[in-house]
Amino acid sequence: MLVATITVFALLRVQGALAQASKTTNIPRWCGKPYKSGSPNINPGGQLTQPQPSPNPLLYVQIEPRHSIYVSSEESATFIVDAALSDYYGSPYSNSTQVLGSSTPEPFSDLYFSILAESIDQVLVTNSVRINTTNNLFDFNIAQLTPQFDPYDIVLYGASSDGNQTYSTATKLFYLPDKQPGSITKIDNLNGNLLYRNNATNNTFVPFFAFGFYTSWGGYLEPSLENLKAYYDLGYSAVHPIPSFSDNLTTVLDYMDELNLMFQYDMRGTYTNLTSVKEQVNLVKDYSSLLAWYTADEPDGNQDPLNATTLAYETIGQIDKYHPVGLVLNCQNYHFEEYSAGADYLMEDAYPIGINATWSKWGTLCNATYGDCGCDNCLGELQDVSNRIDDIAEYQEWLGQWSKPIWAVPQSFYGEGYWDRNPTAEETWVMNQLALNHGAKSIMLWAFPTVDELATANSQQSKVLTKSPVLEFVTGGQPTRLSVKAFESLDVSYWIVGQQALVSIVNLEYADASSAIKIVLPFPASSIVSSPWGNVPWELSEKTLNVQTLDALVTSLVILHL
Ligand SMILES: *[C@@H]1O[C@H](CO)[C@@H](O)[C@H](O)[C@H]1NC(C)=O
Ligand SMILES: *[C@@H]1O[C@H](CO)[C@@H](O)[C@H](O)[C@H]1NC(C)=O
Ligand SMILES: *[C@@H]1O[C@H](CO)[C@@H](O)[C@H](O)[C@H]1NC(C)=O
Ligand SMILES: *[C@@H]1O[C@H](CO)[C@@H](O)[C@H](O)[C@H]1NC(C)=O
Ligand SMILES: *[C@@H]1O[C@H](CO)[C@@H](O)[C@H](O)[C@H]1NC(C)=O
Ligand SMILES: *[C@@H]1O[C@H](CO)[C@@H](O)[C@H](O)[C@H]1NC(C)=O
Ligand SMILES: *[C@@H]1O[C@H](CO)[C@@H](O)[C@H](O)[C@H]1NC(C)=O
Ligand SMILES: *[C@@H]1O[C@H](CO)[C@@H](O)[C@H](O)[C@H]1NC(C)=O
Ligand SMILES: *[C@@H]1O[C@H](CO)[C@@H](O)[C@H](O)[C@H]1NC(C)=O
Ligand SMILES: *[C@@H]1O[C@H](CO)[C@@H](O)[C@H](O)[C@H]1NC(C)=O
Repeated sequence: MLVATITVFALLRVQGALAQASKTTNIPRWCGKPYKSGSPNINPGGQLTQPQPSPNPLLYVQIEPRHSIYVSSEESATFIVDAALSDYYGSPYSNSTQVLGSSTPEPFSDLYFSILAESIDQVLVTNSVRINTTNNLFDFNIAQLTPQFDPYDIVLYGASSDGNQTYSTATKLFYLPDKQPGSITKIDNLNGNLLYRNNATNNTFVPFFAFGFYTSWGGYLEPSLENLKAYYDLGYSAVHPIPSFSDNLTTVLDYMDELNLMFQYDMRGTYTNLTSVKEQVNLVKDYSSLLAWYTADEPDGNQDPLNATTLAYETIGQIDKYHPVGLVLNCQNYHFEEYSAGADYLMEDAYPIGINATWSKWGTLCNATYGDCGCDNCLGELQDVSNRIDDIAEYQEWLGQWSKPIWAVPQSFYGEGYWDRNPTAEETWVMNQLALNHGAKSIMLWAFPTVDELATANSQQSKVLTKSPVLEFVTGGQPTRLSVKAFESLDVSYWIVGQQALVSIVNLEYADASSAIKIVLPFPASSIVSSPWGNVPWELSEKTLNVQTLDALVTSLVILHL
C-alpha cells in the first residue's frame, strides 16, 4: 500500500515536471530568455563563467600550425609553440630543475621539446622555448609529409632539462593536395588574418581583410549584374549575399569571379539540413571568388540545436577543407562553447545605435535573464561593439582555446521596432575602427543596400583598411591596446610591423575635446610617415603624439617611423 502510494506520488511529480517542462519550452525566447510580456522569469542557463583559478600557476603548453591549412605546393610550414604560465589550464609546474652531475637545483626556465607526426612517427621539430613565453615560431619542411585529405595528428613532447617534469600537447596539421580550380583561403593562427590564393593573385597567398556588406539577394543582387558592379565600384573587398537564392545564383557568382569580388557563402536557413549543405558546397566550392563558408546566423539568438553548427562544420569539411567556416553569434553569453565549436572564425553583431537598452518593444524590461531589446546585454553605446569583441576573446581564454579570429558585423540599418535610427557616418567609422582596435580581422556590415551616406562612408573606410599601407599592419600583427591617461574616452591601439607603427585613435565622445591631447607612446618614434585616415594634425615630439583639439567622434590612423 505504502509502495503504491509512493509510486503514484512519484508519477504525479514526474507528470508535473513534464507539464512544467513543456510549458517552459513553449515560451518564446531569445538568447534563451523569455521576452514576451507575461512570460515567467526563467534563467536561461548556458552562461560561460571564469574557471576557478589554480592555487599555483600551471604550465600551459600549446601548439598550433601557423596556418589553418597548407597545400602541397608549399614546402615550408611553421608551428607556433606557447609555454604560458596560466592560472587555469596546463599541468603543475615547479620552477626548479636538477642538472645531471650537479647538486644544486637550477631554475626551470626552458622547455625542451620534440614535435612529431604521430601516425608515421616522424620528428618534425626538436628545439626549446623559454617558460612563460608565447608565439614562438618553428619552421619545418612540410614537403617531407605526403599530402592527404585527413589531418596529421601532431604531438609535442616537452620536458625540463632533468626530465623530471614532462608536458605533452596535441594538434592537427592539414597538408592538403593542391587545389585547382578555384580559390584557397587560410587563417593565419598567429595574427588572425585571412590569406587567400586564386588566379587573380597569380596563385600566391595574399593577406586579406574582408570589408563589405551582407547584401540583399532578391532586392539587389538578383535583379541585375549592374548592381553588383556598382557595389564593387564602391571599393568593398568582399560581399555576403543573403539567401534564399534563386536559379540565377551561378550567374551572379560567375560575375563575382570575373570581378574577383570575394564572397562569403551563406547557408542560414539550410545549414541544419546536411543534405542541402552538401549540395550547396559541391555547387560553390570551386569558385575563384569563394572566400569562406557561413553557416549559422545567430544560432544562439534562435536557440538552434547545440550540435547544429558542429554538424554543419563537419559536413563542409568532408567536402571542402580549402575554405574556413564562420558564423555570427548574437547573444552576449549563451552556450558560447557549443555554438562557437562549429566555426573557424566568429562574428559578432551587437547593434547599439538607437536602441532602448532597458525597455523593449515587447513591453518588458531587459536584463541578463529576461527581455529582448535588440542588442543582448548592451548599454546602447558605441562601446557595445568593442565590449562584445572583448567578451568573445575572453570566453576563448576561459575555455583554454587557441583564439579563433573575430569579425565584426556593424550596424548599417534601422527599424524592426528596436532601432530608432541609422548610425551617422561618424558613428559608422567609430564602430568599424573600434572593432579594428579590439582585434577584429574583417568587417561585414548589415546590410546593403543602405542609405547613400553610409554606403559612401563605409566605402571610404574600406578603401583604406583593405589596401596598402594599412593592410600590412592589420594583417601583420595583433593590436596592442593603449590607455591614454586623462583621456579615458579615447580608444587607441597600435600595430608594429618592421620599422613602422600604425596608431589608431578613436574619440568615443559625442563632444569635441576641449583641451590639448597627448598620447604617450610605449615605443620610440622618429617621425610621422603618413596619416592614411582622418584629418587630425598630429605632431610628434619625443614619444608623444600631440594635437590641440579633437573633434567629436573623430577617427584617425597615423603611421610612424620607429
Ligand atoms: C628528479 O627525479 C629524481 C628521481 O625521481 C629525484 O631523485 C630528484 O630529486 C628529482 N629532482 C628534482 C629537482 O625534483
Ligand atoms: C621559484 O619559485 C620560488 C617560490 O615561489 C621563488 O621564490 C623563486 O624566486 C622562483 N625562482 C625562479 C627562478 O623563478
Ligand atoms: C610571466 O610573464 C608575465 C608577463 O610578461 C610577467 O608579468 C610574469 O611576472 C612572468 N611570470 C614569471 C613567473 O616569470
Ligand atoms: C579566374 O577564373 C575565373 C573562373 O574561371 C574567371 O572568371 C576569371 O576571369 C579569372 N580571373 C583572372 C584574373 O584570370
Ligand atoms: C605569376 O607567377 C609566375 C610563376 O611564379 C611568374 O613567372 C609570373 O611572372 C607571375 N606573373 C605575375 C603577373 O605576377
Ligand atoms: C535572374 O533571373 C531573372 C528572371 O529570369 C532575370 O530577370 C534577372 O535578370 C536574372 N538576374 C541576373 C543577375 O542574371
Ligand atoms: C533538405 O535538403 C534537401 C536537398 O536540398 C531537400 O530535398 C529536402 O527537402 C530538405 N529537407 C527538409 C526537411 O527541408
Ligand atoms: C543533435 O542534437 C539533437 C537534439 O537537439 C539530437 O536530436 C540529435 O540526435 C543530435 N545529432 C547528433 C548527430 O548528435
Ligand atoms: C526606454 O523606454 C522606457 C519606457 O518607455 C523609457 O522610460 C526610457 O526613457 C527609454 N530609454 C531610452 C534610452 O530611450
Ligand atoms: C530580470 O527581470 C525579471 C523580470 O522583472 C526579474 O524577475 C529577474 O529577477 C531579473 N533578473 C536579473 C538577473 O536581474
